[in-house]
Amino acid sequence: MNFTKSIFLLFLLTLNFTLAFAQWNFDESQVKPYILPDAFTLANGKKNTTENEWWKLRRPEIFSFFENEVYGKTPTKRLGVSYKISSIDKNALEGRATRKEIRVTFRNGKKSLAMDILMYIPNAAIKAVPLFLGMNFDGNQCVIKDTTISITDSWVDNDKRFGITDNRANEKTRGSQKRRWPIEKIIERGYAVATIYYGDLDPDFDDGFQNGIQPLFYKNGQTKPAPNEWGAIGAWAWGLSRALDYFETDKQIDAKKVLVHGHSRLGKAALWAGAQDERFAMVISNNSGCMGAALSKRNFGEDIKTINKAFPHWFCANFKKYNDNEASIPFDQHELIALIAPRPVYVTSAQDDLWADPKGEFLSTFFAGEVYELLREKGLPVTEQPPIHQPVMGTIGYHIRAGKHDVTDYDWEQYMNFADTCFYKKIKF
Ligand code: GCU
Repeated sequence: MNFTKSIFLLFLLTLNFTLAFAQWNFDESQVKPYILPDAFTLANGKKNTTENEWWKLRRPEIFSFFENEVYGKTPTKRLGVSYKISSIDKNALEGRATRKEIRVTFRNGKKSLAMDILMYIPNAAIKAVPLFLGMNFDGNQCVIKDTTISITDSWVDNDKRFGITDNRANEKTRGSQKRRWPIEKIIERGYAVATIYYGDLDPDFDDGFQNGIQPLFYKNGQTKPAPNEWGAIGAWAWGLSRALDYFETDKQIDAKKVLVHGHSRLGKAALWAGAQDERFAMVISNNSGCMGAALSKRNFGEDIKTINKAFPHWFCANFKKYNDNEASIPFDQHELIALIAPRPVYVTSAQDDLWADPKGEFLSTFFAGEVYELLREKGLPVTEQPPIHQPVMGTIGYHIRAGKHDVTDYDWEQYMNFADTCFYKKIKF
């Protein structure tokens, strides 16, 4: 190869590289102007001005958009369900907690699917306690190092670190995520904590919806969800609601105070679960980013085409039409948060998590505030994104912390402070 040829090749390579990354913007000065849909303008152009109009007219419009065009409709049919306490230890965490595992089995005809709930309840409790419910990424055995917890038998991602090559979890994964689950601290603060493995409900890969919960709902001859029916995020959110059904039967839990939380893709699912199921008393979305808490119309970080391409199974098929077309979406994520109003919502960002667009996560909590105010609750108590490590709490709360995309003890401290404020010392604003 002669010199000119190699220079040309180098030029092409650099151009390719630049174009590949130019696709996403991480520079605040390059954010293009965008028009944020008004949460109060009805489809017929009229303004929603009263609480009654919100519940009767505007909320249903927003809800219908998210269910038909984004996450997909969740089936309302009730499946056969059974609960079996598969283990119980009244002396867990050196006597400070009761640990239970519950196997929930769903049935429709010959098809069935099992979901395991792992929960810890403070032994010091003198009455039913509030509970933090969240999904985990690797199986319930990952949240704490305890050889008596059952290892998930559902599909898991292969992972060289633990020698997983056959999509089956193993002993080495025990406690692998424990730093994200400060169970002892949660118990000390008087809360119960429960988790389910998201892969029990729908393994996180694109298999055309042949595994997971969806097939239990197929009508005769149906092989995949219709274009406006649920994807994986919908299935995960459904599982959270089914865990809540169980808590309603458990006398140790105050089922009116179940807080649903989730990190990243599971934070998207937590928001959608909270929007659909008004029994969830509070929603916490940690670093949930694109199609979680972050605004879509702000061109910063991940975009819709990218998320649909990398994770074609997360949303309903209808959602693909917004690829490269954020401007045409009639709603934005502040309205997803508004669907949770007037219940408390807490959103977190991480400073280095630019992919999730921290500012966009803040802005949607800010703009959701006007709906909270219509419903006589305080939105965010600030108008500007606060600096790092300065949480702000109204009925909507928000913080940004230093560091990367993750769940840390700092995040948990704030979740619990927020929950204390909302549940125990309800402040009237
Ligand atoms: C990817 C994806 C994000 C998602 C994240 C996660 O980065 O692009 O949208 O939030 O995975 O779930 O960890």
